[in-house]
Amino acid sequence: MTTTLVTPPVQEDLVGASLKPQIDGIIEELITSLPDPDKLSAGERRGIIARYTAVLEGNFIYWMTATYLSVKSEEARPILVDNLMEEIRDCHPAMLRNFTIAAHAFPTDSDALEVHQDLTNVRLFLGRLSGVQNLLTMAFFEGFIQQFMAYLADLAGAQGSAERVYTDVHGVCDVTHSQELFRAVSVEMAVNPIDSSTDLFEGVDLLRTLIQTIIHGRGEQVAA
Ligand SMILES: [Fe+2]
Repeated sequence: MTTTLVTPPVQEDLVGASLKPQIDGIIEELITSLPDPDKLSAGERRGIIARYTAVLEGNFIYWMTATYLSVKSEEARPILVDNLMEEIRDCHPAMLRNFTIAAHAFPTDSDALEVHQDLTNVRLFLGRLSGVQNLLTMAFFEGFIQQFMAYLADLAGAQGSAERVYTDVHGVCDVTHSQELFRAVSVEMAVNPIDSSTDLFEGVDLLRTLIQTIIHGRGEQVAA
């Protein structure tokens, strides 16, 4: 027996025609805002790698797990499980740690505190366990990470590191992860639709702010 998922056309259209292009636009804006690595000081380059690591190493699996716990669609769950399996089996946190240590950019207490508030906001949001919003937030995150990898590798190169396992793995596999997560948004919308008054992009916006802090630091944003 096969089970056919009936997705209301309106919601399917919403993902393809509106949500994905909007997310792609947000990612493009962030990538365009990246400062030229050659114009950064060694300390500024180290700071970006360190803040990225302070956020990603301990939170990516946690956030994907929160998203898994938040979905009601049976079809969305395997997409998240596949992602988690890969993270844990291939030990992506260790990959990231190796990358960061090789670039002499291991996060200090100052780096962790710089992202503290924005990170807490994202953690609390994902902990509300809103399926569609969490999936959209993670689809955005995967898409951003994939686009960001070449830049992160350039930063590490400028710091004298040739370690590329983390950036090579994530520049490729996250393309599929991001597409699959958008598919999960569609199926979750059909099973567990969100209220029309809910801001679909609330988590995306909080995560965008956190990414801006990773890239530019908090001091600079406050001063701007
Ligand atoms: Fe990963």
